[in-house]
Amino acid sequence: MIFDILVGLQHGDEGKGKVVHHLFKNNKYTHCVRFNGGPNAGHTIYHDGNKLVLHQIPVGIIWGTDCVIGPGCVVNLKKLEEEILYLQENGISDIKEKLFIAHNAHVILDGYIDEDNRTDTIGSTGEGIKPAYVNKYEKIGTRIDGVPGLRNKFNVVDTSTFLNKSENYILFEGAQGYMLDIDWGDYPYVTSSHCLSYGALSCGVPMQNIDKIYGICKIYDTYVGKKTFQNPDDDALQELAKAGNEFGATTGRRRQCSWLDLPKLKQAVVTNGVTNLIINKCDIIRIVGKYRLHDGKSLRSSGNYEDMCSFIRDSLRECHFLREILFSSSPNEV
Ligand code: IMP
Ligand code: MG
Repeated sequence: MIFDILVGLQHGDEGKGKVVHHLFKNNKYTHCVRFNGGPNAGHTIYHDGNKLVLHQIPVGIIWGTDCVIGPGCVVNLKKLEEEILYLQENGISDIKEKLFIAHNAHVILDGYIDEDNRTDTIGSTGEGIKPAYVNKYEKIGTRIDGVPGLRNKFNVVDTSTFLNKSENYILFEGAQGYMLDIDWGDYPYVTSSHCLSYGALSCGVPMQNIDKIYGICKIYDTYVGKKTFQNPDDDALQELAKAGNEFGATTGRRRQCSWLDLPKLKQAVVTNGVTNLIINKCDIIRIVGKYRLHDGKSLRSSGNYEDMCSFIRDSLRECHFLREILFSSSPNEV
């Protein structure tokens, strides 16, 4: 068994779905596994010209691959049924046969969504994520194996036993991103789960078997939530939001925009041990034509796109484990 891990390096919405889709087209993965979060995620992909948005089911389902919702996830079972129907209506078949849920994942109970909305101070997605993790750590949560009759409806597995087979080649698909991580993000403006690469190990797989760690970011930064993130006096940021169509896939909320935070990106690359970095939405910054980034001291402007890319490359040179940096300028391809 060997596996790759894919994670977001910013505030989610880095284009992870697009890259997972691309990886499935080019690799013979046997499994696609989600290891954190729940229906707060929105992974947008374009498949055969159709736009699809996935929330809880790993993107590999589109390719007919066995998919797993891991122990670090929280699951809304009603929404999961709805998502299965939605995918069936879009021509994806045998989903229930191909979907496996960890027996020890936690369940988002009916009251959690109200509670989330009532108690939110940081701009949550309102999906009941926080109450689910609060109850988990308070040790009063409901796990998948505690839901009566669920084994008749879904494949429930011990993910460690299920995944550790010599023939398996697995992609772990992260949700959210470094800056939303419960430990490394901008606390308290974070989600409640582990969004970094090591979160994948919570599925019960040995770290010796990691091959690649894909880190995904955009060439600028976006954030959805309550803190002020976008500089209101910088008109070019509004142009970015418009050109990049920066609206949330789950809530439809407008994403605040900012220039790339290069020191933070570097830290995210190091902390995750990223081997392959994919920098998305380079077409958008070229449309706007302003090549700015935060270099830790000030806002730095490059004369053109090529200079900006070279500056980013040079800044990441110390990360010796980073094998590849790819600048992606296409909405559907890597
Ligand atoms: P929660 O995960 O719903 O508790 O939201 C916590 C914070 O993370 C809020 O600022 C959300 O907007 C943000 N967030 C959670 N999931 C995503 C995501 O998939 N993409 C972008 N932002 C997210
Ligand atoms: Mg998203």
